[in-house]
Amino acid sequence: MRLKDKVAIVTGAASGMGKAIAELYANEGAKVVVSDYNYEGAQTVAEAITNNGGVAIANRTNVAELADLENLFAETKEAFGKLDILVNNAGIMDGMEPVGEITDEKWDRVFAVNTTGVMRAMRIATNLFLEQGHGVIVNNISAGGLRGARAGAAYTASKHAVTGLTKNTAYMYAQSGIRCNGIAPGGVETNIGSTMTNISEFGMGRQMTGSGTMPRVGQPMEIAQLALFLGSDESSFVNGQVIAADAGWTAY
Ligand SMILES: NC(=O)c1ccc[n+]([C@@H]2O[C@H](COP(=O)([O-])OP(=O)(O)OC[C@H]3O[C@@H](n4cnc5c(N)ncnc54)[C@H](O)[C@@H]3O)[C@@H](O)[C@H]2O)c1
Repeated sequence: MRLKDKVAIVTGAASGMGKAIAELYANEGAKVVVSDYNYEGAQTVAEAITNNGGVAIANRTNVAELADLENLFAETKEAFGKLDILVNNAGIMDGMEPVGEITDEKWDRVFAVNTTGVMRAMRIATNLFLEQGHGVIVNNISAGGLRGARAGAAYTASKHAVTGLTKNTAYMYAQSGIRCNGIAPGGVETNIGSTMTNISEFGMGRQMTGSGTMPRVGQPMEIAQLALFLGSDESSFVNGQVIAADAGWTAY
């Protein structure tokens, strides 16, 4: 019970890694707000947790909408009285477009979800954590937040931005009881491929030249285990790190 009595928000928790993180956090004693813009999916995950003896509520939030995020934190406080851990996990892919092919619309959509949504959730959480005197942020970033061509220009830039945000936040609040770390997963078996639209043949071809160095594809629970460590007090001295969980892919 490494998260006993902790309250956690997990965004994008209806599927993939977010779902695994929500389930593992609940198993470890956390009260979990299972948040997603796919509300039915979030409800299914929350119900399964509850049926399993855990504590969870479902929440409908599009992380690209500020009003939704404000409501998410208000609902969490109303239900559980506090927040200990924010996991920013919701994210979408681009279509592997290099900069010469990216449209403003695609760029703005990817940044709204992957970057601005994360910044806003961190802003709200941080002010809550300052009031409480403690709090932990775990950002599910990507190997694309550390390396240059694991996706297209928009996804890569959006995730690099969150790497910077993670480090900046960690240092800024290092003496205020707040920690902030990131995870850089390699390829993981989830539904994220369904968010890829208008795929660039050229960009995909360039991206594929490095994907042969990926040792293997991971399972969502293998990322959830790292999110558990980073969310728990066991990582009390770890701050401002973006840790790869990729079977050694970024080691190449
Ligand atoms: N799957 C991979 O190989 C991989 C690798 C590295 C990083 N990531 C990152 O991991 C995170 C989780 O992705 P996943 O692979 O589990 O994908 P997934 O598609 O299985 O799950 C993502 C969840 O986020 C939700 N979501 C998407 N946009 C949202 C929005 N605007 N507001 C609220 N919820 C939204 C979806 O409904 C879905 O339930 C993402 O940030 C992604 O960029 C994925």
